[in-house]
Amino acid sequence: MSILVTGGAGYIGSHTVVQLLEEGHEVVVLDNLCNGSREALHRVETIFGKAVGFIEGDVRDRALLDRLFAGHAIEAVIHFAGLKAVGESVEQPLAYYDANVHGSLVLCQAMAAAGVYKLVFSSSATVYGPDAPVPYMETMPRGSTSNPYGSSKAMVEQLLTDLCRADARWSVALLRYFNPIGAHPSGQIGEDPQGIPNNLMPFIAQVAVGRRPELAIFGDDYPTEDGTCVRDYLHVMDLADGHVASLASLEESGVHIYNLGTGQGVSVLEMVTTFERVSGQRVPYRIDPRREGDLAAFWADASKAERELGWRAERGLEAMLRDTWHWQRNNPAGYQQS
Ligand code: NAD
Ligand code: UD1
Repeated sequence: MSILVTGGAGYIGSHTVVQLLEEGHEVVVLDNLCNGSREALHRVETIFGKAVGFIEGDVRDRALLDRLFAGHAIEAVIHFAGLKAVGESVEQPLAYYDANVHGSLVLCQAMAAAGVYKLVFSSSATVYGPDAPVPYMETMPRGSTSNPYGSSKAMVEQLLTDLCRADARWSVALLRYFNPIGAHPSGQIGEDPQGIPNNLMPFIAQVAVGRRPELAIFGDDYPTEDGTCVRDYLHVMDLADGHVASLASLEESGVHIYNLGTGQGVSVLEMVTTFERVSGQRVPYRIDPRREGDLAAFWADASKAERELGWRAERGLEAMLRDTWHWQRNNPAGYQQS
């Protein structure tokens, strides 16, 4: 299949591009590089030994999209492009709604004009909201969202649901990711956040490599086994495989919702101790107060994806942490050093 990957120079996008190429798909990447790296795609080309079509530009640029669809026989779109920092979204709601909601809207308009009706959208477990019981299941309703980032994901899910209801030519996969971590086993590509990492895994990796003195653990008084928060971490290569598998669901019209997670909860402290064991590095930490908006514990029921797509997360926690460390050790400053 010939696939447009928006945001393909970012973390999840670049790993997905590798797996799409492995499966024999043709790929064109559109990315404005606001949080992605051209170097990531050069390295994808090295891993795969084949050039990747790349267009630098914005998903909100309708004229550019029209030219792109006119020039390439695109059959499906995987839409990663967007902004993802929860705290920043509270400070800059307009930027988030513009990139995430307006961006998706313009993309759908351009797709419809070009006669392309197959779309895979990067959603998030955050759409279940704070009151959903665990494990989260796709049959549960979307809950309330407490920040513009989460609201933008819920809005786009609604927009795409309405679109499918109105026009049976559309088929859309809403993939609700849990907590992707890890890196390609080659150590060539991985997560390279700009500035101070918001998320746990890159923070641990940067402490281990000596870029930061210690990890702050946000709260050890949650109602969990060791008092720290529990999440469902999944390997980014498994997540990439989930995108490839989800393409099959686009054969049938309508909305197809899938949780992509392992179904296993892991605490922050378990993450630290397992990382130390796998990497042989010490990760000094202190306990800080809870971070506003954090939930105590959630994980996926990922059985629908296994039943319907034949997908399940294959790589365990040790592989996730080993591959993260391999990437970080080889690239202490991320992509910047090359
Ligand atoms: P990322 O920031 O590494 O990748 C996003 C890419 O999109 C970047 O390369 C960025 O340059 C590009 N981009 C942003 N706005 C754009 C625009 N307007 N036009 C063109 N390109 C644009 O993030 P990621 O972690 O790879 O996440 C990919 C998607 O998955 C995002 O939509 C994110 O919200 C979603 N998601 C991520 C996580 C996670 O934990 N990483 C969890 C759930 C959902
Ligand atoms: C966060 C976002 C979520 C988003 C996801 C992926 C919030 C509240 N949620 O999920 O909407 O989809 O990222 O981008 O921001 N932790 C520490 N110290 C740190 C960093 C994190 O203790 O320096 C803890 C957190 O309290 C949490 C766990 O580690 O319990 C995981 O945090 P993180 O990696 O940020 O993911 P989420 O909060 O699950």
